[in-house]
Amino acid sequence: MELALYEPALGYYVAAKPKFGAAGDFVTAPELGSLFGRTLARQIEALRGPVLEFGAGSGALAATLLSQHDFDYRILEISPQLQARQQARLGDRAQWLERLPERIRGVVIANEVVDAMPVHAVAWREDGIMERGVSLSGDGLAWSERPAAGELLDEAQKLEVVAPYESEIGLVARAWMRELAARLEQGVMFVIDYGFPRREYYHPQRGAGTLMCHHRHRAHADVFAHPGEEDLTAHVDFTALASAAVEGGLDVLGYTTQAQFLVNCGITEVLGEANAENALHYAPLAAEAQKLLSPAEMGELFKVLAVGRGVELPLKGFVSGDRAHTL
Ligand SMILES: C[S@@+](CC[C@H](N)C(=O)[O-])C[C@H]1O[C@@H](n2cnc3c(N)ncnc32)[C@H](O)[C@@H]1O
Repeated sequence: MELALYEPALGYYVAAKPKFGAAGDFVTAPELGSLFGRTLARQIEALRGPVLEFGAGSGALAATLLSQHDFDYRILEISPQLQARQQARLGDRAQWLERLPERIRGVVIANEVVDAMPVHAVAWREDGIMERGVSLSGDGLAWSERPAAGELLDEAQKLEVVAPYESEIGLVARAWMRELAARLEQGVMFVIDYGFPRREYYHPQRGAGTLMCHHRHRAHADVFAHPGEEDLTAHVDFTALASAAVEGGLDVLGYTTQAQFLVNCGITEVLGEANAENALHYAPLAAEAQKLLSPAEMGELFKVLAVGRGVELPLKGFVSGDRAHTL
């Protein structure tokens, strides 16, 4: 997964091809339009402090946030190609960091970044827990297995699943969160992504895991079909991320669905600012709201997790319908 996404010159996120929006492979919330960003801006403004965005993609979210408020805006982007694209779009309105700062204060945002972090594929078999890897088979790629060991085995043993069962464990995402937690002196980190709390993630009915490819707006599970040419993702285990944050000394400040979060932040007021009588202007906004909020689209599957320290509570986005107790 790491090679398919990030291998210099070859990986999906470091090649030149378009990825986002109508001409690409998938559409993220900030790519739909400005509604998501304008609503999120209300939460960020309430917190004050500089903003650090991870994995800013085409720069769409940063552009919207900066159109709402003169934020002190930093971006940490792993893909040099995407960083260049963000720089062309945002110019001197943001600063790009080469590495994680020693100390972080303010607001950290990661929208659809954790699902793009490489995961370990794991199989629970009758005779033990296996790590699933990739081997050559003729001209193509195929799965092969070896006994899981070390941290992967420790983490896999903590999960209550009944063999045969296949899924993913995001060790990279946990390490990333622990690292951030150690450096966040004061502030909040928002992780927005598709995923579930542990109980739902490792549900008996999800026994084939969540690895998924996205190619020209079609999702499929054949991970060896076009390695490097299509997006490859796994859903996020929000319980694992929250525990990693707590291990690093942070508090869980809120966890809820994207729909609930946006409603709490005032998406209906943001919509209300538009002139509903001008159908040409209003119809696309209403369609965008529907995509962001509908349980059949992004509203339920996408979640928002906030962790942090030294912050006045409650956070706007979680005033109603906080589900942190389900983590
Ligand atoms: C699916 S895209 C989402 C882009 C954007 N946030 C959006 O919502 O449209 C994932 C982004 O995260 C970046 N990325 C993945 N892992 C990262 C990491 N560890 N640190 C920083 N950026 C990362 C990718 O290069 C890409 O820009």
